[in-house]
Amino acid sequence: MVKKSRKGMFDREYEFNQLVGTIEDGVPLIVLTGIRRIGKTALAKVLLNEIDFPGAYVDVRKLWSLRNSVTPDDLKGEIIKSLVSRKRYTPVLELLKSLGGVRVGSVGIEFRERESTLMDLLDDLEKSGKKTVLVFDEAQYLRYSKHDYTSLLASLNDNYENLIVILTGSEIQILEEFLGFNNRYSPLYKREHEIVHLERFSRDESLSYLRTGFKEVGMDVPDKELEDAVETLDGIVGWLREYGWMRYRGKSHPIAIEEVFQRAKRDIIDELSRYSPRYLRVMLAVAEGYHSWRAVKGYVEVMEGREVNKGTLYTEIKNLIRYGYLEKRGNEYHIVDPVIERALRHPT
Ligand SMILES: Nc1ncnc2c1ncn2[C@@H]1O[C@H](COP(=O)(O)OP(=O)(O)O)[C@@H](O)[C@H]1O
Ligand SMILES: [Mg+2]
Repeated sequence: MVKKSRKGMFDREYEFNQLVGTIEDGVPLIVLTGIRRIGKTALAKVLLNEIDFPGAYVDVRKLWSLRNSVTPDDLKGEIIKSLVSRKRYTPVLELLKSLGGVRVGSVGIEFRERESTLMDLLDDLEKSGKKTVLVFDEAQYLRYSKHDYTSLLASLNDNYENLIVILTGSEIQILEEFLGFNNRYSPLYKREHEIVHLERFSRDESLSYLRTGFKEVGMDVPDKELEDAVETLDGIVGWLREYGWMRYRGKSHPIAIEEVFQRAKRDIIDELSRYSPRYLRVMLAVAEGYHSWRAVKGYVEVMEGREVNKGTLYTEIKNLIRYGYLEKRGNEYHIVDPVIERALRHPT
């Protein structure tokens, strides 16, 4: 359940205002980053529902998961679907009315044939004269395409004054590599953009998030349990919410925490299963406390019963860092999300 109205959204005031300010300043491209479950999607959706500009939301990861690539037609379809589904929102309705290729009739909204390509749609949005925000959620998945989306983004950046693009990404390094603001061979090299980064909630914010939520539904949860939950779940709003939801459904404190771990374990196994099984073994090694290169290598070798190729393992670890699962602190590898770390140690 994504909170649709800011009334249901806890805090993020600062980042919300940063996004609005950036849009009002006319910055054409915004990159919203942060680890998984930190609240990027929720914030982007709330933004679309609260600003005076019309906008559309596209879940790029979902598109990609359907057929392992993302075509311009897919994006066009999703933008149209999003605009139509948000037609009750006045700025969106006004945009739709002003689009050349759209008929707003009594039976509903029809896009005429002329919106035949993504570029046609973008041209029409531009010509409407209204500033329009396009959110591409988990945009690093745009890299799985024959289409050169960085060139497209660069051309939007140069030639489309009314279109503002927000890209979100959990796989921060991958998104950076894909966009290539610092890569002089990238079409987006040195293009104007703003980065908005979401951090974890502080201990106090997390406590207050849980307290507010429980109060709203008339539940009285002892401070000791709240503190323990916050200690364990480390300011990651997705896990806090999951815990709150379990409590709301009548689970006791220890059972609710247990279920968050089970969920985290299912998620990480799911997410990593599309890569080689080695990735999960590396994560298990680090979760078990093997933090150095040698220790991880040793652990994986014991698990696999044979020597592993250094170069391959090195690339795999580097990828886990790029995907945002591991981070390097000094010479040690650590798991970014402590809930995932504990979940991996957890017996099923
Ligand atoms: N500021 C917030 N207040 C209340 N709930 C939130 C907030 N941010 C995120 N959530 C909830 O936490 C969960 C994870 O957030 P989500 O936006 O999906 O994270 P991300 O997109 O960064 O992976 C969702 O269920 C979302 O509704
Ligand atoms: Mg998201």
